[in-house]
Amino acid sequence: MIQIHTEKCIGCGLCAKDCIAENIVIRDNKAQAYFDCFLCGHCAAVCPQGAITIPEYDMDDVQDYIPENFALNPEKLLSAIKFRRSIRDYTNAPISEKEQQALFQAGRYTATAKNTQGCRFIFIQDRLPEFKELIWNGIGAKLDAPGETSELPEDFRRFYRTHRRHPEKDYLFRNAPAVMVICSSNPVDAALAAQNMELMGVSMGLGALYNGYLTHAIRSLPGIRTWLDTEDKTPQVTMLLGRPAITYARTAPRRQADIIIR
Ligand SMILES: Cc1cc2nc3c(=O)[nH]c(=O)nc-3n(C[C@H](O)[C@H](O)[C@H](O)COP(=O)(O)O)c2cc1C
Repeated sequence: MIQIHTEKCIGCGLCAKDCIAENIVIRDNKAQAYFDCFLCGHCAAVCPQGAITIPEYDMDDVQDYIPENFALNPEKLLSAIKFRRSIRDYTNAPISEKEQQALFQAGRYTATAKNTQGCRFIFIQDRLPEFKELIWNGIGAKLDAPGETSELPEDFRRFYRTHRRHPEKDYLFRNAPAVMVICSSNPVDAALAAQNMELMGVSMGLGALYNGYLTHAIRSLPGIRTWLDTEDKTPQVTMLLGRPAITYARTAPRRQADIIIR
């Protein structure tokens, strides 16, 4: 539950005004909270006095708003969005601890429906060879099973055949040094986190590939979810990650946006 430190509270009412749960009222010039809410943290963020804390969270992690630090430049942001590409060729440079942490922070701070903060971020780098083997062996076992009526998309047969003949041609993992699997009960939460993580990656010179086929394999092959430790969270997004071994000279062309303005 949120804690209001009344000695600091000046009764300005900003917290009550911004509280989506209508959990806060101002009485005798002090804010009061009544029940357990979903702890969105808006009250703590908006309070000019820093009078609200939430014991469930690490309050040392909270930063003060300094406009220069948070201002986004629209041209630069749009450029980053336009120039990000799906990367299908990587250098073998691993993703450093510092970069990993920055990616996790970008995912962690992303909005989640009802503030569930329920995404699990599974980062595979050190044990990637083992993971790749599990996936490819799993695909092989499914496709080779007698009378196999696989729930794997038809493309997997081609991927598997090519990979068996030419192991360096790996349409699932490419040559990425790392893979991130984002699990959540809500696919939108995972997708939003993934996009923020990709943009964070781009800002550090990394590239990513959202890999729908790999998500499919992770969901449908036996034993993979246990290996990953997804528990009851559904793998929603799988991203290859690494340093691009390719440079694009320009943005990729796009159709006009399908927009309706009423
Ligand atoms: C949900 C999703 C799943 C995707 N799955 C794959 C995939 O399995 N393999 C692949 O090579 N590309 C995959 N892509 C990448 C798209 O093909 C790519 O985003 C699209 O062609 C546009 O290119 P760009 O990302 O460079 O702008 C996926 C993209 C999204 C958003």
